[in-house]
Amino acid sequence: MFATLPLLPADPILDLGRLFDADPRPEKVNLGIGVYLDDTAHTPIMRAVAEAETIVRRRENSKAYLPPKGAPGYAEGIERIALGSDIAAVAEGRCAIVQTPGGCGALGIAGALMKRSGVECVVMGTPTWSNHKPVFGAAGLATRMIPYYDADTGGIDFAGFIAEVKTLGPKDVLLIHGACHNPTGADLSHEQIDELIDIALDRGFLPMIDSAYHGLGESLDTDGYVLRAFASRLPELLISYSCSKNFGLYRERTGAIIMIGKDADHAAILQSHALDIARQTYSMPPAHGALMVSEILASDELEAMWRSELAEMQSAIRARRRLFADALAHTPLGNSLAWVGDHNGMFSLLPMTPEQTRRMRDEFAIHMAASGRINVCGIRADNAERLARAVAQILSSEPVMQSA
Ligand SMILES: Cc1ncc(COP(=O)(O)O)c(C=O)c1O
Repeated sequence: MFATLPLLPADPILDLGRLFDADPRPEKVNLGIGVYLDDTAHTPIMRAVAEAETIVRRRENSKAYLPPKGAPGYAEGIERIALGSDIAAVAEGRCAIVQTPGGCGALGIAGALMKRSGVECVVMGTPTWSNHKPVFGAAGLATRMIPYYDADTGGIDFAGFIAEVKTLGPKDVLLIHGACHNPTGADLSHEQIDELIDIALDRGFLPMIDSAYHGLGESLDTDGYVLRAFASRLPELLISYSCSKNFGLYRERTGAIIMIGKDADHAAILQSHALDIARQTYSMPPAHGALMVSEILASDELEAMWRSELAEMQSAIRARRRLFADALAHTPLGNSLAWVGDHNGMFSLLPMTPEQTRRMRDEFAIHMAASGRINVCGIRADNAERLARAVAQILSSEPVMQSA
């Protein structure tokens, strides 16, 4: 039966970890990994999570299934941190939330839901996270890439992006990143978000927001603008929400799909389909991560602790960006890559070819994605200058490819 199946190549992003672990050079630096790293290059368990885990372990007396919608209190907690308490869609009962295995689980449910609803194409800005296309493609949806990132400025080609968005229609979905665009770090401004919403209302396409880094860009409140603005003005909306990064719960597979319908009846219909899709695939949600998130968000003390740790992570990422931008400024590159200091979240895209990123690894023990994506969490006071010099040397020794 399986004799005709070809061996698939390893996922290039996931394979980066293997290459890093196999590198014997002590000076090696990991800019390829997709998780938060502290000053010691470690991905810590947040203190609020550790405390919640103790409570959950003490209290848990059964491993019976969770309710299909998720852990008690989880949907309400996610709704409050993602959308706030004063969104009309919430008050009107138009918002349905189902717990999912991570943000990817939510994207998968969203894809199947779109397919059932007659969506024809999922439209995404270029570049986007490498898993977006496969997830929506697996749901049987066509995908189309439109301009987004401007590699020359490290900013957004908003005119090019908007020109394409204005061609979308009611059978299209526009995928929008929540804060901390992966892989570029270049986020839409609040004004640009408002303009996008005007166009969505005019053209009638469905926006879908993938929120995987809420709170790691500027703050929970500022990063949440995109979620609140779309949720308060659009009649229909999908949001995939991941707790992997902002609660540090990666392996616990904790996320949610947030579905806003035209009215409460539509929200109930959407929820019934999300539960049906889940039932056909993984059946029941995983418990541990969601129980901890519920515990944190049900306690003023734990929530305050979580918020302050998240703010610490956000400012540590910002500090590493500044460190790197300063170090780059002292190389012959000058301020040409100064935008690295201003981007949001963990990722930025250096203007390198795959061959140049391979040279970064081979010649300097600096591991990064072949796309040029770096995770700035790997930058520290003791390696920033060396990294900057390596980038300058590689970029000056070969022509720089301008498109990402
Ligand atoms: C843009 C984006 N969306 C979704 C996800 C999925 O996250 P999760 O690990 O919660 O499935 C990620 C994870 O890296 C991401 O970067």
